[in-house]
Amino acid sequence: KKIVLAYSGGLDTSIILKWLQNTYGAEVVTFTADLGQGEELEPARKKAEMLGCKEIYVEDLRETFVKDYVFPMMRANALYEGVYLLGTSIARPLIAKRQIEIAHETGADAVCHGATGKGNDQVRFELGYAALDPKIKVIAPWRDWEFKSRTDLIEFARLNQIPVTKDKEGEAPFSVDANLLHSSSEGKVLEDPAVAPPSIVYQRTISPMDAPDKATEISIDFKEGDGVALNGEAMSPATLLTALNKLGHDNGIGRLDLVENRFVGMKSRGVYETPGGTIYHVAHRAMESLTLDRGAAHLKDELMPRYAELIYNGFWFSPERQMLQAAIDQSQKDVEGRVTLTLYKGNVIVSGRSSPKSLYQEKIVTFEDDAGAYDQKDAAGFIRLNGLRLRILADRDK
Ligand code: ARG
Ligand code: SIN
Repeated sequence: KKIVLAYSGGLDTSIILKWLQNTYGAEVVTFTADLGQGEELEPARKKAEMLGCKEIYVEDLRETFVKDYVFPMMRANALYEGVYLLGTSIARPLIAKRQIEIAHETGADAVCHGATGKGNDQVRFELGYAALDPKIKVIAPWRDWEFKSRTDLIEFARLNQIPVTKDKEGEAPFSVDANLLHSSSEGKVLEDPAVAPPSIVYQRTISPMDAPDKATEISIDFKEGDGVALNGEAMSPATLLTALNKLGHDNGIGRLDLVENRFVGMKSRGVYETPGGTIYHVAHRAMESLTLDRGAAHLKDELMPRYAELIYNGFWFSPERQMLQAAIDQSQKDVEGRVTLTLYKGNVIVSGRSSPKSLYQEKIVTFEDDAGAYDQKDAAGFIRLNGLRLRILADRDK
């Protein structure tokens, strides 16, 4: 028996590793991905070696993550429940996919994740596994093991010589998930939604109140709906998002304190920081405002909540998500040009947009003489016929 574990190197997944070895007598293959969480990964390798693993995968997936997951999602302007930019949701399918590939490479018959039985992440991992290998065995220790509390876990760690660094992991005052798109914090000190988050929750943005009194002007260039340059300098997807994260950090952009509906049916409170993603989202919408036809734009906006919910609920690899993606991608071929933005104390303010594919025609919209480009008399009949049924109704009901 061989199990591929999604391994962060932290305390919880180290306990899981040991628990898998003890419970199943299994060989554990660890998979640790750099998705831009901003942590050293070599310690995770060392720890896996120390815990007796022979096959250890440590991979930098930042470019794939942004190019094949974050950017496609951003083309849809996806927001869950109106505000959440889906930073955790969009990372899970990629982790699940690599886990299954590694299972195939190493001849493993099972995969394992460290998500609890209460949340969304278990669903996202396991729907990914189901779509990519319907036969693979899935192990979710949080739903199966005998531990009842944090104290039990720490006790198990001590008994098994797993290092518990007291300050950071053993006593972490909330649960964190981080990647290049966001940081998310939930639980413990955040559990009362009436109480403001303590400032230590915020890890990748300064407070808007501490941000500079001076505005920062930037530009983002788009091509086929994806960001390709910052301030005129061409950048890869992950490089661009990294640079936007820095700008967002410095200007206090992208904080969100949200009570959301989990797929399993409960409400939960989360604190999110999505600095670069927030800037990118505003810029992308501005680029579309100039280049998308109204019919396409409005249809996209209708489809967006469905699309966002599919990603939130873990259906990235579903046919309906792929259908929507195809429609969204089709809409993006002329989403091209430059958006200029002002970043100031938590705000992202669009200050200009231009495009070789613009549908904006000054000669038509102008308040000045349009030299016959638009005949205002046409509007009279347009309004008369649109008003016909309203006049008929008013006539009947008078
Ligand atoms: N509620 C967010 C989501 O479902 C984040 C979940 C993981 N975050 C965490 N701090 N453990 O996408
Ligand atoms: C977890 O329960 O493992 C994290 C939160 C979530 O998945 O929603």
